[in-house]
Amino acid sequence: MRLSLLPLLLLLQVFTKTTAASTCIRKERDALFDLKATLKDPQGLLSSWAGPNCCSWYGVTCHNSTGHIIKLDLGSNNFSKDYVLTGDISPSLTHFTHLEYLDLSRNDFGGANIPKFIGSLKNLRHLDLHGAGFGRKIPPQLGNLSKLNYLDISFPSDTFSSSSSVDDLCWLSGLSSLVYLDMSWWNLSAASDWLELLNMLASLQEVHLCFTNLQRTNLNSLSQSNFTVLDRIDLSSNNFNSTFPYWLTSIQSVSEINLAYCGLHGPIPKSVENLTHLEYLDLSKNDFGGRLCKLEYLDLSKNILAGDIVNFGKAMATCMKQLSIVNLGSNNLTGSIPGWLGSSRRLFSLTNLHHLDISSNFLQGVLSEEHLANLSMLSTLAMSSNSLRISVGANWVPPFQLIELQLHSCPLESQFPQWIHTQTSIAIINLSNTGTMGPLPEWVWTSLMSLTSLDLSNNQLTGKLPASLEHMKSLHFLELSSNQLEGQIPDMPRSLEVLDLSNNSFSGSLPNSLGGNDLRFIFLSNNHLNGSIPGYLCDMEWLSTVDLSSNNLSGEIPNQWKQSTTLFALDFSSNNLEGEIPSSIGSLTSIFSLHLSRNKFSGNIPAGLSQLLGLQVLDLASNKLSGPVPRSIGNFTLMASQQSRPISPTMAFDGFGGSIAYYESLYITIKGEERSYTRILNLMKSIDLSDNDLTGEIPIEIGALVELKNLNLSRNFLHGHIPETVGSMRSLESLDLSWNQLSGVIPQSMAPLHLLRHLNMSYNNLSGNIPPGSQLQTLSDEDPYIYVGNSDLCSPLVPESCAGNKEKQAGHEEHTDVHDVLLFVFSGLGFGIGLAAVWWVLIFNKAVSIGYFQFVDSICEKICDWMILLKIKVNMKLMGTRAQNQGD
Ligand SMILES: *[C@@H]1O[C@H](CO)[C@@H](O)[C@H](O)[C@H]1NC(C)=O
Ligand SMILES: *[C@@H]1O[C@H](CO)[C@@H](O)[C@H](O)[C@H]1NC(C)=O
Ligand SMILES: *[C@@H]1O[C@H](CO)[C@@H](O)[C@H](O)[C@H]1NC(C)=O
Ligand SMILES: *[C@@H]1O[C@H](CO)[C@@H](O)[C@H](O)[C@H]1NC(C)=O
Ligand SMILES: *[C@@H]1O[C@H](CO)[C@@H](O)[C@H](O)[C@H]1NC(C)=O
Ligand SMILES: *[C@@H]1O[C@H](CO)[C@@H](O)[C@H](O)[C@H]1NC(C)=O
Ligand SMILES: *[C@@H]1O[C@H](CO)[C@@H](O)[C@H](O)[C@H]1NC(C)=O
Ligand SMILES: *[C@@H]1O[C@H](CO)[C@@H](O)[C@H](O)[C@H]1NC(C)=O
Ligand SMILES: *[C@@H]1O[C@H](CO)[C@@H](O)[C@H](O)[C@H]1NC(C)=O
Repeated sequence: MRLSLLPLLLLLQVFTKTTAASTCIRKERDALFDLKATLKDPQGLLSSWAGPNCCSWYGVTCHNSTGHIIKLDLGSNNFSKDYVLTGDISPSLTHFTHLEYLDLSRNDFGGANIPKFIGSLKNLRHLDLHGAGFGRKIPPQLGNLSKLNYLDISFPSDTFSSSSSVDDLCWLSGLSSLVYLDMSWWNLSAASDWLELLNMLASLQEVHLCFTNLQRTNLNSLSQSNFTVLDRIDLSSNNFNSTFPYWLTSIQSVSEINLAYCGLHGPIPKSVENLTHLEYLDLSKNDFGGRLCKLEYLDLSKNILAGDIVNFGKAMATCMKQLSIVNLGSNNLTGSIPGWLGSSRRLFSLTNLHHLDISSNFLQGVLSEEHLANLSMLSTLAMSSNSLRISVGANWVPPFQLIELQLHSCPLESQFPQWIHTQTSIAIINLSNTGTMGPLPEWVWTSLMSLTSLDLSNNQLTGKLPASLEHMKSLHFLELSSNQLEGQIPDMPRSLEVLDLSNNSFSGSLPNSLGGNDLRFIFLSNNHLNGSIPGYLCDMEWLSTVDLSSNNLSGEIPNQWKQSTTLFALDFSSNNLEGEIPSSIGSLTSIFSLHLSRNKFSGNIPAGLSQLLGLQVLDLASNKLSGPVPRSIGNFTLMASQQSRPISPTMAFDGFGGSIAYYESLYITIKGEERSYTRILNLMKSIDLSDNDLTGEIPIEIGALVELKNLNLSRNFLHGHIPETVGSMRSLESLDLSWNQLSGVIPQSMAPLHLLRHLNMSYNNLSGNIPPGSQLQTLSDEDPYIYVGNSDLCSPLVPESCAGNKEKQAGHEEHTDVHDVLLFVFSGLGFGIGLAAVWWVLIFNKAVSIGYFQFVDSICEKICDWMILLKIKVNMKLMGTRAQNQGD
C-alpha cells in the first residue's frame, strides 16, 4: 500500500510547492527539525529536511489550505537494514496536532516502548508501526485515538516479541472507529478478555492476531458477535482450548478465515457452508474430531482449503452417519485418503454418503474393497486429479450403483475396471488419462445403456467398436481419443453432441451416420480413414468444429455447404482430397479457421472465400492450386481490423452445462528446428498459401491485412515486385516469400515492420539494397541466408551478393555451400509454416464453471508462456446428481 502511495506523495509534493497556502507552519517545521535531531539517519534519507518549505520535504504532507502537517510517512520501503531510521522519536511529534497519518514502519527503534505521546495525536486515523522495532509495552494512551481506522503494531516475526507482552487490552475499547487491527506476535496471554474487547469494535473488517500466545482461550465464550462487516480474520498459531468458533459462521461478510495451528477440536459446524462469501478457509493442523454434529451436507469445494484431509476426517468422524454429500473438490488438501476413510469403524458410519467429491486435490493412497464396502448409497464418486488408486479384485461387486464416476488422471490398475460392468444405471464415466490398457470390453456397449457421457481418452485401450452404437440412445458425449482402437467407425446415436475418436487407428470409410442434428464437434484426425467426405456434414445444423485431418480421405469436398451461424472450424488437411475448392464454402460465413493444406486441390482459389468475413486462419498450403492470389484477399475484414472474436464460451456450448474450446498452434520450422507457437485462438491471424502453383503478382490489396501475423506465399511462381503495401502490414511476425520469381527491390516501406521475427526472401530475383537499420537488416545479421539465392541483392552478408561485395565474400564460400545445401534440405522437408489444430474440451458442472474458466485462463497463459502444445480434458459432471441427493 505504501508503495502505491509514494508516487501520490511525490505528486502532492510537486503540487504543494506551487501553492502558496501550503507553505509550512513555522512551529511544525521546528518540530520536524527536533524530530530529525533525535533520529539517526546514516544514509541521509532526511537530507531534504532543510529549507523553508517543510511541506515539500521527504515524507511530509501538509493540508492544502491550512498548511498543517497531516501526514508523516517515514516508513521504510527498503528491505536493506542499512536504509532505515534508528534513534529516538522526539516528543516534539505532539506538535503535529492535525496529523492524520503516521507511518514509521520497518525502521529500527531498537526495542523501545511505543511512545506514550502518540496517544495525544487525537486526529490520527492511520498508525503503522509494523516492524518498526518498538517492543515491550503498549501504552494504554493509544486508546485515546478514537478516530483511528488502521492500527498495525505487529512484528514481522519473533523479533522482540518474547519480551513484548500485553497485560491489558482495555484501551482497545476506545478505538471505536477501528477497521484494521494487526497485533501479530505480541504476547497477549495475559489479556484474557481480548475477544470480548474486540467484539465491541463493530466496524472491524480485518483482524490479525497470529502468534499471540492466546493459550487456553475458549473461543466460544462469545455467544454472539457484534461483527457485521468483518472480512478477514487470522487467529492462526495460537494454542486455544476450543471448539470451532460458532459465532464466526454468523458473520455473512467474512471472506477469509485462518484458524491453522489453533489447537481446535470438535466438529466443523455445518453452518460454515452458510458463509457464502468465504474464499479462504485454513483449518490445517488442528484436531477436529468430537461430537454433536448433524452435518449432512458439506460443500467446501473451491475454497482454498489447505492442509491434511485427515483433519477433516476427524472433524466429521461423528457426523459421518448423517453425511450424505461431501464436496471438497478443487482444494489444496493433502494426505492419504485411506487415512481418512481408512479405519473400518469410521467407514461403517458413512452409510448415508451419496456424493463424494474430493477431486483436484493432492491426495494419495489406495482404496480397497474394504474401504468402499459400506458405501451402499454412493451415487457419485469423483476423485479425479489426485494420486488415488482403486485396487479391487476382478470379481468385486460394489455395494453401490453409481450414476457418476470421475477418475480422470487417477492411476488405475492396468485392465479396464471390471466392476463397472455392474453399474448398470451409470450415466457418466470419465477414466481419461488413467493409464488403463488392453481391450475395451464389449459390455460397455451392451450393459451400460444409460450412459450419457463416456470419456476414455488418453489411455492405451485396444480393440474395435461394435458396428453400430445407435442403440446408445442417451449418449451425448463420446471421447475415445488417443488410444489404440481400430476397425470401422460405427454408426453413431442421434443423441450425440461431441464425438472425438482422434489419434487412434480407425480405418475404412466414414459411417452412414455420425449422429443427428445435435452433433456439434467431430474430431476424427490422425486415423487411417479412407473414402470420401460424406455430404451429410453439410446438412448438420449446429455443427461447430470438424477435424478430419491426417487421414487418407480422397475425392472432392462436398459442395452443398449452406449458410451457417455455428460452423467455426474446418480442418481437412493432410488427406488425399482433390478437385477444386468448392465455392459453397464461401457461404460458411461464421467460419474462423479453414485448413485444407497438404491435399491435391487444384484450380483457382475461389474468390468466394472473401465472403468469409470472420476468417482469421486460412491454410491452403501444399496443394496444386494455380492462378493468381485473388485480389479479394484484402477483404478478410477480421484480418484487417484489430477486432478479434471474443473468446466466448458461447462459441461452443456443448449443450449440457459445459463448453468446448478449440485451440490452434502455429508451427514454424526455422533452421531445421520446428517450434510451435500456440496462441489463444482468437489472437491468431494467418494466411498460408505456400507450396502451390500460384502465378501472377502479389496483389497490392494484401496491404489491407494490417493485423495479419503470419503470411506465407513461398514456393509458388509469383513474379513482379513485392508491393509497397506490404509495409503497412505492421502486425506481421512471420513473412515467407521464398522460392518465387519476385523481382525488383525490397520496398523501403517494409523498414518499419518491427514485429517481424521470421523472414525468408531467399531464391527470388530480388535486387538492390536491404533497407538498412531496419528489422529486415537485423534479421539478416542473425541469419544471412534469408536472402540467399537473389543474385542482385546487395548486402555485405549475403554470400553471392552483387558485384560490389564480391571480394568480401570470397572467404565465406565453402561455408556458404554447406548452408545452401542445408537450407535446401530443410526447404524440401517443409520449410515454412504449417498450421495444426489443437483443441480441448471442457465439460463441467455449471456450479464450477467459473472456477474452471479461471483455470483455463491460467492454462492458456501457460501455453503462451511456455509455447507448448497441449490438449487438456477436464472431467465432466452432470447436474442433477447433487440436486437429486439434496432432495433425499
Ligand atoms: C484540498 O484537499 C482536499 C481533500 O484533501 C481536496 O478535496 C481539495 O480538492 C484540495 N484542494 C485543492 C485546491 O487542491
Ligand atoms: C535500497 O536503497 C538503496 C539506495 O537507495 C538502493 O540502491 C536499493 O536498491 C534499495 N533497495 C530496495 C529493495 O529498495
Ligand atoms: C489518554 O489516556 C490516558 C490513559 O488511558 C488517560 O489517563 C488520559 O486521560 C487520556 N487523555 C485524554 C486527553 O483523553
Ligand atoms: C507471555 O506472557 C506471559 C505473562 O503475561 C508469560 O508468563 C509467558 O512466559 C509469556 N510467553 C512467552 C512465550 O514469552
Ligand atoms: C456489542 O458492542 C456494544 C458496544 O459497541 C457492547 O455494548 C455490547 O455488549 C456488544 N455486544 C456483545 C454481544 O458483545
Ligand atoms: C480445556 O478446557 C476444558 C474445559 O473446557 C478443560 O477440562 C481442559 O482441562 C482444558 N485443557 C487445557 C489443556 O487447558
Ligand atoms: C443457513 O442460513 C439459513 C438462512 O439464513 C438458515 O435458515 C439456516 O439455519 C442456516 N444454516 C445453519 C446450519 O446455520
Ligand atoms: C495451492 O496449491 C497451489 C499449487 O501447488 C499453490 O500455488 C497455492 O499457493 C496453494 N494454495 C494454498 C492456499 O495453499
Ligand atoms: C471487397 O469488398 C468490397 C465491399 O466491402 C467490394 O466492393 C469489393 O468488390 C470487394 N473486392 C473484391 C475483390 O471482392
